[in-house]
Amino acid sequence: MMTSQQKLETIMSRYEGVAADLIPVLQDIQDEFNYLPQDELKVVAGRLNVPLTRVYSVATFFKMFSLEPRGKHLIRVCLGTACHLRGGQRLVETVGRRLNLEPGQATEDRQFSLETVGCLGSCAQAPLMMIDDKYFGRMAVDKVPKILKPYKQ
Ligand code: FES
Repeated sequence: MMTSQQKLETIMSRYEGVAADLIPVLQDIQDEFNYLPQDELKVVAGRLNVPLTRVYSVATFFKMFSLEPRGKHLIRVCLGTACHLRGGQRLVETVGRRLNLEPGQATEDRQFSLETVGCLGSCAQAPLMMIDDKYFGRMAVDKVPKILKPYKQ
């Protein structure tokens, strides 16, 4: 297993080390670590000769970047009006309890993250949840274990 330092070195070796590399470097770090760890950001700032504040402003501007650890699979539960009325909140709680996490968190094994979102645009399917790019419509809490199973390690 590569240490995080080795992983970062591998990433940095693909680039010239100029300020213009910032976004692609951050993208590679995000892909490799599933988030942007603080220590790595400091190294990047130094190597690319970019102020750390600039690194953070880029890291927070783009949605594809996350400063918090993210799980391998992102679970989104819709809490838009239609989904909320049809038990969205209970769904969030059920998923959270099963995986032992709160919305906004990742599981300790980094397998899952949980987020709540506004209307996903398929209200007829309410309540709706997504895992990565896949939709699960007309959800019921008792379907949760079966749906999560294939995503577990
Ligand atoms: S409210 Fe959930 S899809 Fe519209």
